[in-house]
Amino acid sequence: MKILITDKIEDEIIQLFKNAGHAVTYNELDADTLLREVSKFDGLLVRSRTKVVTDVVNMGAKGNLKVIGRAGVGVDNIDVKTASKLGIKVVNAPTGSTVSVAELAFGMMLSAARSIPQADRSMKQGLWEKKTFKGVELSGKTLGIIGVGRIGAELAKRAMAFDMKVVAFDKFVKKSPIPKVSLVSIDKLLKESDYISLHIPFVKEEGPAIREAEFEAMKNGVIIVNCARGGVIDEKALLKYLEGGKVRAACLDVYEAEPPVFKDIVNHPKVICTPHIGASTKEAQIRAGTITAEQMMMVLSGKTPDFWVNKQLMATV
Ligand code: MLT
Repeated sequence: MKILITDKIEDEIIQLFKNAGHAVTYNELDADTLLREVSKFDGLLVRSRTKVVTDVVNMGAKGNLKVIGRAGVGVDNIDVKTASKLGIKVVNAPTGSTVSVAELAFGMMLSAARSIPQADRSMKQGLWEKKTFKGVELSGKTLGIIGVGRIGAELAKRAMAFDMKVVAFDKFVKKSPIPKVSLVSIDKLLKESDYISLHIPFVKEEGPAIREAEFEAMKNGVIIVNCARGGVIDEKALLKYLEGGKVRAACLDVYEAEPPVFKDIVNHPKVICTPHIGASTKEAQIRAGTITAEQMMMVLSGKTPDFWVNKQLMATV
């Protein structure tokens, strides 16, 4: 069958399709060309650059499109609702980037605790500000993890290896799935954590999980990490509590808008930011691409995929 890949992908992923007898077109198409071309293909594989909007899905459904693969976790760049209505399966790779995102979140915690990026910048300006960069340790501190999925669990393992106490909150989970980590209420987590790391999706209808009220409930000097999705933290509220001194530092890989438009956050001296690179490692990209290609080929050969994002939606429309 015919596969269209419109975002950067490793050769070995293209080869996987070819080895199974599929014809692959790999071209980072612009939005208009994608709209014109998509109906010719049975499968469309994207990462996050390509926006698979309603019109693209509609055009695909008018032609041969049967499956959309997202080589990653979040499917916010795909109109999953329309795909479901039109019988197009959406698959992803939820396990591909787990370790990479957890490692970035952990690296962020260490960077903030010791002001590593700030100290590096200062050195490069020719300064020697030994007294300015007095940090804090991770050892003996409490890490509060919000969202106890795969990434939260990997982060907990790393934190415990650094002698941190880990507590977690997840509104969908009653019993902790992470060994040696107890589930606590959100109030307790906010009150007791020295570090807080978010690992939850952004739900538009619900808005940010961390707003003024949540910042108000936090410990003084808290360090907050968001490598999940922009929008789960209210950026204006974050700025207020950074300026007020309650939040010692914030580490952000994701933003309400990407690239970020609220520059006060990005430029703030107590904020460490990266450009949504949680899954951007060699290993995670190959893993995610491989898993997604396999999932797409399962659909195309009439099998039920393991990571079928719109399974429930398709059953109800
Ligand atoms: C994902 O959802 O896979 C990651 O956040 C990476 C990305 O969207 O680029």
